Amino acid sequence: MRVFSGIQPTGAKHIGNYIGAMRQYVTTQDEGDAFFCIVDLHSITVDYDPRDLHDRTLDLAALLYAVGLDPDRCTLFLQSHVTAHAEAAWLLSAVTGFGQLGRMTQFKEKGEGKEFVSAGLFTYPVLMAGDILLYETDIVPIGDDQRQHLEIARDIGQRFNARYGETFKIPRGVYPTVGARIMDLQEPSNKMSTTGGTTQGTVLVLDEPDVIRKKFKTAVTDSEREIRYAPDEKPGVSNLIEIMSVAAGRPIPDVEQAYAGKGYGDLKGDVGEAVVDLFAPMQARYKELRADEGELRRLLRVGAEKARQTSAPTLEQMYERMGFVRP
Ligand code: AMP
Ligand code: TRP
Repeated sequence: MRVFSGIQPTGAKHIGNYIGAMRQYVTTQDEGDAFFCIVDLHSITVDYDPRDLHDRTLDLAALLYAVGLDPDRCTLFLQSHVTAHAEAAWLLSAVTGFGQLGRMTQFKEKGEGKEFVSAGLFTYPVLMAGDILLYETDIVPIGDDQRQHLEIARDIGQRFNARYGETFKIPRGVYPTVGARIMDLQEPSNKMSTTGGTTQGTVLVLDEPDVIRKKFKTAVTDSEREIRYAPDEKPGVSNLIEIMSVAAGRPIPDVEQAYAGKGYGDLKGDVGEAVVDLFAPMQARYKELRADEGELRRLLRVGAEKARQTSAPTLEQMYERMGFVRP
């Protein structure tokens, strides 16, 4: 079984990325032949700083190894190292509807009120579709906010197959059962995000322990004081329960039961500690790995080579079926 997922290098990674995505990468690397792509080409679709893109790309590679991706059990690579991705995006744009791209929530949200909206922000899902389809992917571990992008990737693959003959495997998204959508701790009706959210409500994987504790202590909860899991009615406390469930490795009903009759303060303090304990070993590994840039770059070169070999036959088939004269 082929696994593929992508993650953007810009924007500091937070506990939503960890719970919704990275944690699933780590488990899926043993369930199949897994490819994880740092999607640097996607990061230029909004205003960004080239120096920041450069450094954050290496930061994210170190972080992904630190959370548990193993270069011997999966393939981690940079999207820009494998030119097939940019080529596939162009070819697939021929079977992508302009109207469908315009209906993407992320495009509308990220473009709204901006003085300059890049064409890249609009065609972003086509690049993502190519990422996935090039690898004959079976499953795509992602968070809830990527559902619509996965749907369009499936549509694009199906449209290509119908127009040019059976070429792509149509992938399926897999979403975590707990924590597919982690909310901002200060504004629990919004998803946690480094672009749209609050600083105090966004817990970074690399935050210092005291910063993590403080962010949880000051988390906004509901007025009704009963500790109960009900995401629609009680988003603040339910979000904390989900995070606790993942960080402590306990099912949600267990967490609810453990806090029956206790106050929000107890829960907030304990979640903070559980998250500090969860991230501490990753933070230590990150520091070590990030210090050896030569080794990081070497691992990424090995990953890119494997990714090139795997994606090349699919790209070749695309060109041939579309009628191009090959060299
Ligand atoms: P990004 O950093 O935007 O490239 O996102 C990387 C992965 O994290 C994607 O699979 C997203 O679906 C997931 N993700 C982002 N924000 C959240 C969140 N607040 N809760 C759960 N998953 C998330
Ligand atoms: N759009 C995804 C995000 O912002 C990142 C991404 C790019 C991706 N290509 C992908 C995710 C392919 C899964 C598969 O999170």
